[in-house]
Amino acid sequence: MKAPFAVCLLHEGMLNKNGKDVTTSLTLIDLHDISRSAKTYGLIQSYVAHPAILLRRLAGMLTNHWQYGYGSTYNPDRKAALDNLTVCENLEQILNDLKVKSGKPPKLIATSAKEGAGRITFAECKTILQEDQENSYLLMLGTGWGMTDQLLEKADYFLEPVRGPTPYNHLSVRSACAIILDRIFGK
Ligand SMILES: C[S@@+](CC[C@H](N)C(=O)[O-])C[C@H]1O[C@@H](n2cnc3c(N)ncnc32)[C@H](O)[C@@H]1O
Repeated sequence: MKAPFAVCLLHEGMLNKNGKDVTTSLTLIDLHDISRSAKTYGLIQSYVAHPAILLRRLAGMLTNHWQYGYGSTYNPDRKAALDNLTVCENLEQILNDLKVKSGKPPKLIATSAKEGAGRITFAECKTILQEDQENSYLLMLGTGWGMTDQLLEKADYFLEPVRGPTPYNHLSVRSACAIILDRIFGK
């Protein structure tokens, strides 16, 4: 792939079960699993954004433990994954950081469990990443009941949903992330 690729987990601008725009809480296991998937599939960076300073500090305690604390020698494989995780306040901060790290202006790819118009297929996404030498790409992952339309509208592309053979459509964001990365980068 020519285009540098990163993933972010967002908590602001999410829907709750009643369709209201909310900020969701942080789930620490998401940070472990998403950064491990990102490392496995060769992403240049993984990000988590939360507007609440206390929750960013909590995320920072987790990354510090595995990067520099006892965890770094206890399990170096986990250190390697969490070394690539950056904690930010919001999407704008992530985009600025990715632009600096990749040296290329980032384009956004949204995800959702829902089908809808204007989605690109995994194959089309792969082709875009193989052909684009000008940009970096950021995969947007949501929490709660998914991203608000206002947030989704910021994306340059909207990826088709992951589907299984049953009508049950309730993957965790961690599982969805791993499957999406495998469909784009898997051998
Ligand atoms: C718990 S899910 C939210 C499900 C929500 N109903 C939606 O339509 O996105 C949280 C996040 O996981 C990701 N996700 C979950 N299921 C997915 C699927 N089948 N395909 C693509 N992404 C999915 C999306 O990033 C979503 O915002």
